[in-house]
Amino acid sequence: MSASGSLLVDNIGELVTNSPDGRGPLGLRRDAALLVEDGRVAWVGSARDTPAADRRVDAGGAAVLPGFVDSHAHLVFAGDRAAEFAARMAGQPYTGGGIRTTVGATRAASDGELRATVRRLHAEALRQGTTTIEVKSGYGLTVADEARSLRIAAEVTDETTFLGAHVVPAEYADRPDDYVSLVCGPMLAAAAPHARWIDVFCERGAFDADHTRAILTCGRAVGLGVRVHANQLGPGPGVRLGVELEAASVDHCTHLDDADVDALAGGQTVATLLPGVEFSTRSPYPDARRLLDAGVTVALATDCNPGSSYTSSMPFCVALAVREMRMTPAEAVWAATAGGARALRRDDVGVLRPGARADLMILDAPSHLHLAYRPGVPLIRKVLHNGVPR
Ligand code: NIG
Ligand code: FE
Repeated sequence: MSASGSLLVDNIGELVTNSPDGRGPLGLRRDAALLVEDGRVAWVGSARDTPAADRRVDAGGAAVLPGFVDSHAHLVFAGDRAAEFAARMAGQPYTGGGIRTTVGATRAASDGELRATVRRLHAEALRQGTTTIEVKSGYGLTVADEARSLRIAAEVTDETTFLGAHVVPAEYADRPDDYVSLVCGPMLAAAAPHARWIDVFCERGAFDADHTRAILTCGRAVGLGVRVHANQLGPGPGVRLGVELEAASVDHCTHLDDADVDALAGGQTVATLLPGVEFSTRSPYPDARRLLDAGVTVALATDCNPGSSYTSSMPFCVALAVREMRMTPAEAVWAATAGGARALRRDDVGVLRPGARADLMILDAPSHLHLAYRPGVPLIRKVLHNGVPR
């Protein structure tokens, strides 16, 4: 949906464009204005020579940024795992074993219950400035439950990801090869019409390199883009495999060796870091500085899910990345907007330049710096999605 007529956002104290027309890596402009027509940015310029418009939003001298692009979220599930979180905070490790608990609850839930959770979390994310969100399946793990998860995800986003290879479900525990055949056969056939991407959790205890390669290859053969959960719980082959298969993104990247960093630096694959996971599992954070210094493109995302990171808040992830991962505020804001867009191979979001989607947020703050400087404070005053105020 987009609004008809033109809308001028003016009196912008600091505009983050992420475009080379502005200053520095964020393409900053001072005292700026922006015109929206038909859901797109039509003009960006100085507040002194604003064009006429049908309607006007006064930013009041505040900062305006592109909407966040959350390129990694698992919103289709039932139940929660608050007790598991409490046990972790009392010293238990995170193993991913709780995924099967959520699979049981998700299979037992009605379509209406799943839809209500997806809509609630989607609305929660939008209020916090997220205007593009990727949503994965992965808690159904039957042909019917994966297909319905993706159908429901597609009601709120075009960025849907088939994650039938999240874990091997209990009923296939002693025959994982058969489960991989199911994923590559009937499950993929049922999921693909509702999915843009395919993903695999490549990790000890989930899927090994051979299984990951087989699944990603058959997904690619039916036209899905490739992404991978890799190197979350320990070192492994996932990151290098993702780069080799030209994945759009490898996600987590917590345990990397020099060969992993070299592979990322030499390829086109984005490294998506998910600091909500390290926060919620009390684990060491990935070293974003090492990746950035090697020239790797870094994105930030929430990984919103009931187990390892039950947050939908991109501002929280930006603040964590700055405090805990040695990113500058500008790097973190770029990674949460333009970086997320790169991870989804999109050039129409995460940026504010003529032609881009009019997805933006007005902060209750004079500068993007405040997103990390004032953690935990609701700084998103107003969000426009497709040019429509939300
Ligand atoms: O990205 N690592 C695999 N999957 C999710 C966690 C899922 C869960 O614990 O329910 C993740 O962290
Ligand atoms: Fe995830």
